[in-house]
Amino acid sequence: MKYNFDEIIDRKNTNSVNTDGFREYMFKGRENVKFPYKDDEFVRMWIADMDFATPPEIIEAIQKRLNRRILGYSQVFDPDYYLAFSNWTTRMYDWTFPKEQLVTSPGIIPALYELCEYICQPDEKVLIATPSYAYFQSAVEFNELELVCSKLNDEDGHYAINYEDFETKAKDPKVTLCIFCNPHNPTGRLWKEEELRKVGDICLRNNVWIISDEIHCDLLRTGLSHTPFAKLFPHSDRIITCMAPSKTFNMAGLMFSNVIIPNKPLRELWLRRHYTFKNPLSIAATQAAYEHGQDWHKELLQYLDGNFKFTDEFLRKHLPEAEFKIPEATYLAWINIREYISEGEDVKVLFAAQAGVLLEDGNMFVDHGQGYIRLNLACPRAVLEKGLQRISVFLNSHRPSMSV
Ligand SMILES: Cc1ncc(COP(=O)(O)O)c(C=O)c1O
Repeated sequence: MKYNFDEIIDRKNTNSVNTDGFREYMFKGRENVKFPYKDDEFVRMWIADMDFATPPEIIEAIQKRLNRRILGYSQVFDPDYYLAFSNWTTRMYDWTFPKEQLVTSPGIIPALYELCEYICQPDEKVLIATPSYAYFQSAVEFNELELVCSKLNDEDGHYAINYEDFETKAKDPKVTLCIFCNPHNPTGRLWKEEELRKVGDICLRNNVWIISDEIHCDLLRTGLSHTPFAKLFPHSDRIITCMAPSKTFNMAGLMFSNVIIPNKPLRELWLRRHYTFKNPLSIAATQAAYEHGQDWHKELLQYLDGNFKFTDEFLRKHLPEAEFKIPEATYLAWINIREYISEGEDVKVLFAAQAGVLLEDGNMFVDHGQGYIRLNLACPRAVLEKGLQRISVFLNSHRPSMSV
């Protein structure tokens, strides 16, 4: 390997949410809770950023831009940015889009908040599939819209759309938008073309816009490939695609994401209301990621494959009653630990206090996540091993008082 994913990098005192902000982010309102671990003794497997260094090619591009020494107001003027990104989408997903459809946002979360506001009228509803990334719910509810959830079918750890339920909900004339996670966080499903076509047909037939959140689309197990939702419906202008270098290259703090809006009036509304200036370091970094990040990305996927294999073997051996399938996408492990915990237990606090591991409780994923934990596996193997060991020691000594 050319890049070192085993390196353990100290993130303390870098204003990182992962290391310096976890108390406020994870345990807000529970200030009294005390843990027998110092902050730097926790194994952190919660928020979805990686413990790997951002690729050197990106750091160099930032340094090169810094050497120009003036960091004044900036926007994306250089056509090479579009070229870099559209070459990436062509190479990776055999799909591209016209330049004028591309706008950028400080993140996908702010884009979701804005798009809900622009697309929906005040009394309308937004459809999501659950379990779901919780910010889908926050964006909907912040805009005082009604959230409608369609539970995914859980077929022995393989999640699938319940088309009948989904269509019944999409048929409600007040449902005007679907926020769809492709690939899916937290289950790691990489939706097949056929599944996307069915969901797309249902939505478009019922005049439901689609925001396809594709932030995890570069984080696939080796050999698999991603289908952008919009690629399957080239004649529709009602599918908005959100993609970003943030997860792929571990640069979420640079706050630069791509939003592809084919519908002209919606795009014009976005451009009128959106603050258009950008961070010049983020522009340089993102362009470099798409132009020069491919080798690093390939090695990252190999390393993640190894982490998933390690986790799978570990769980089978040490926590045989946990249900886990290596996901097709994301660097997140969605693990059913129902046999080890009781309903109503505060899983996040329990793991922090008794195992010294920071992780996400399935209940944080809107609905239908009870009994699950989500672990971030994008960390050096030694850290992963330590985290899994702590989890297994804790769970094997902690039996549920009643089944969930
Ligand atoms: C599905 C999904 N969308 C969006 C985000 C965050 O997007 P951003 O950091 O670009 O706001 C995440 C982060 O975990 C995510 O999983």
